[in-house]
Amino acid sequence: MRLEGKVAIITGAAGGMGKAAALLFAAEGAKVAVVDLREETAQRTVDEIVAAGGEAIAIGADVSNADDVARIADRTKDELGLPTVLYNNAGVDLENKFPMLKVTEDVFDKVIAVNLKGPWLLMKAVAPLMSEAGGGSIINTGSIGALRSASTAVYCASKGGLLAMSRVAATELGQYGIRVNGLNPGATMTPMAYQQAEELRSRGVELPPESESSKQFSVLGRFGQPEDIAHMALFLASDESSYITGADFNVDGGMNIMTAVATHD
Ligand SMILES: NC(=O)c1ccc[n+]([C@@H]2O[C@H](COP(=O)([O-])OP(=O)(O)OC[C@H]3O[C@@H](n4cnc5c(N)ncnc54)[C@H](O)[C@@H]3O)[C@@H](O)[C@H]2O)c1
Repeated sequence: MRLEGKVAIITGAAGGMGKAAALLFAAEGAKVAVVDLREETAQRTVDEIVAAGGEAIAIGADVSNADDVARIADRTKDELGLPTVLYNNAGVDLENKFPMLKVTEDVFDKVIAVNLKGPWLLMKAVAPLMSEAGGGSIINTGSIGALRSASTAVYCASKGGLLAMSRVAATELGQYGIRVNGLNPGATMTPMAYQQAEELRSRGVELPPESESSKQFSVLGRFGQPEDIAHMALFLASDESSYITGADFNVDGGMNIMTAVATHD
């Protein structure tokens, strides 16, 4: 098994990409701390892992809150062992397809707090434990929006900031055997994507059927699935990527090489 002996913290693992990664990591032998704001739903991810013969715990926590993050680190260490994988996957896109000039200050603060401050708090709390374990792998979720104008302004800024922070973190943490990499999903079919489509429809925006709209986002003519992203996370978490750090990887069906992608109305 590719993650035998590893202890992984995955944030935002009640649904979407985080849940797909939690199931895959556990199937590959990792013990998994399933972290999410939605504790009951996180527990359902844990129940699925346990039913399949794996080991996991659910931790209800807000990644943008320092006390919650300290609790994530403590509970993981006490109940599963020293963490060797941290997958910062939790993220929000609250400005929800509004142009920059219409975004409120509250939304700006919230998006930056969850998408940028959260991963920083987690790296700060977890890296010393990884160092104690002899090293580890940190995966930070960016976005194709971090690389080009492919989503909304504050969201893209939060993800671009996280990729920049990941490179510095890789430089500083390499001496402890800790690798840090970014993972940039393209347009992926998760609850986040469905919610955004729903909100656009409720505002009267006409969206083409999925088979048509997917062509705007991928040269492969389909949207990504959570499992597409989870497989790259698995590679980055495993020792197969032991010489890779300070890099970021697009899992986007070619979205980043397209000449034009949809942004917002
Ligand atoms: N879906 C896409 O097309 C897409 C594209 C590029 C990047 N991303 C990024 O990928 C990651 C996963 O996205 P997804 O599409 O699976 O989203 P999702 O909304 O389906 O899942 C995100 C999970 O994070 C949890 N969460 C939100 N705020 C939290 C907080 N403060 N503390 C703890 N948990 C919190 C939510 O409860 C949810 O379970 C996010 O960082 C997102 O920004 C998504």
